[in-house]
Amino acid sequence: MMQRGPEATDQALIQAIEAITQQEKNFWSQPLEYDRRGAGHRFFQYPAMMLPVVQRKIIQLIKSAAPRTQTLLDPFMGSGTALAAGMLNGLDCYGQDINPMSVLLAKVKAEAFNQPAYLRAAERLRKRVKADTSTEVTANFPNLDKWFEKKVAQELSKLVRAIRQERRLSTRRLFWVTLAETVRLTSNDRTSTFKLHARSAEDIAKRDPSPLKTFEQLFAQNTEDIALYAEQLSSQGYLREEAYTGRVNISVLDSSKRIKLPVARTPLSAASADAVAGFDLVVSSPPYGDNRTTVPYGQHAYLPLQWIDFVDIDSAVSPDCLSTTHEIDNRSLGGQRNTVTTRDQKRFCRLSPAFAANIQELVKTKPKEVKKVVCFVRDLNEVLKRCAQAVKPNGYLVWTIGNRKVGGLEIHNNLILADLLAHYNIVQVYKIERSIQSKRMAARNRSTTTMTKEEILIFRKK
Ligand SMILES: C[S@@+](CC[C@H](N)C(=O)[O-])C[C@H]1O[C@@H](n2cnc3c(N)ncnc32)[C@H](O)[C@@H]1O
Repeated sequence: MMQRGPEATDQALIQAIEAITQQEKNFWSQPLEYDRRGAGHRFFQYPAMMLPVVQRKIIQLIKSAAPRTQTLLDPFMGSGTALAAGMLNGLDCYGQDINPMSVLLAKVKAEAFNQPAYLRAAERLRKRVKADTSTEVTANFPNLDKWFEKKVAQELSKLVRAIRQERRLSTRRLFWVTLAETVRLTSNDRTSTFKLHARSAEDIAKRDPSPLKTFEQLFAQNTEDIALYAEQLSSQGYLREEAYTGRVNISVLDSSKRIKLPVARTPLSAASADAVAGFDLVVSSPPYGDNRTTVPYGQHAYLPLQWIDFVDIDSAVSPDCLSTTHEIDNRSLGGQRNTVTTRDQKRFCRLSPAFAANIQELVKTKPKEVKKVVCFVRDLNEVLKRCAQAVKPNGYLVWTIGNRKVGGLEIHNNLILADLLAHYNIVQVYKIERSIQSKRMAARNRSTTTMTKEEILIFRKK
């Protein structure tokens, strides 16, 4: 079969995207077949999750236009939406994130397919919890009493003790994810924002949450969703004996420091075109630079992670990531603004006209905010540089990104991203605009206003 050239492949992809848009005008914003239950999307309310159906469709279209597409990378994996979408397309999927909660969730989405075994495990767990008469609390961290009522902490502890007795690691991980969502729903933290913000004393007095009941309900829901997800994979031939047929590799890593390369499927031979080690595709969504204000991924995971055994998540997770409620966010993109120099500012103004325009304005109107924006862009660039090195020539990169406001000024993340990637020989091929249906954000926030638009930007490495 004649291979299409890269430009012809771009055209085929664009036509396929436009055909979908013509068929269903709102597909990219709000697909009719929303699939909230598929691909483990309901396991845990992770901030800023992408839509599984949309990501799955884009990957499918790229695979049709470029059939050699086999390996996918998401360097900001979050809840693992891109990974699950890649698996539903039979790809080898590699994901990284700095947040242990993300790693736990993505691992469960990559390995939890045996619904009957989980139902049996749930029965064993129930018996253990019933037999447990201890009132001891397993977690121990500052302000525990502020975030958890005594009865809630005791019930969570019974669950923790029962989970620890489960022999299979993959089952324990599914239990831990269910426990994480149980913590989110039964703690004294408000569920209306991603930031840690305690409910009022009046509200706390009115509530009587039961972790045991909540866990039971969530676990029943999760096992139903697992059956559906397994069915989706099976029907495509991507599941054999309750295991995914492709490769999945999930790491807790700072992507601004390192991107793990994929393992070659076939032995490398210099003569083969596939011999280039690297990814065929990147599908990702970076933080928008607001991880200290509106969408603090780490802070959101702080309370659930206090109850989970880190050894079960990954041996590389260190307990010091919970040294404060801000630690994970401080280590994340844009978290170290005191390390920003004037040289960084000048350098990125040279590299990105869009960034330069934003900074010029900020210097005049909100000089105190400048470092924050420079820091985020500097760190983002480190990840982009590593991604660019890790992608094969003619590989596609799909970035879902939104702009945000800092001190009333719109920061053009979309244009900055394109400017930065251009320096790595990565060109924009297409742009899909989507409106965001709901974002869990503080209604009023001095530095940020709620986003309403997001873009899915498709690039190709030349
Ligand atoms: C927009 S979220 C990704 C959401 C994901 N697309 C989903 O559907 O759930 C961005 C992610 O980037 C992660 N992140 C931030 N800084 C990072 C870094 N330096 N290295 C790796 N991951 C990082 C955050 O922990 C967060 O999970």
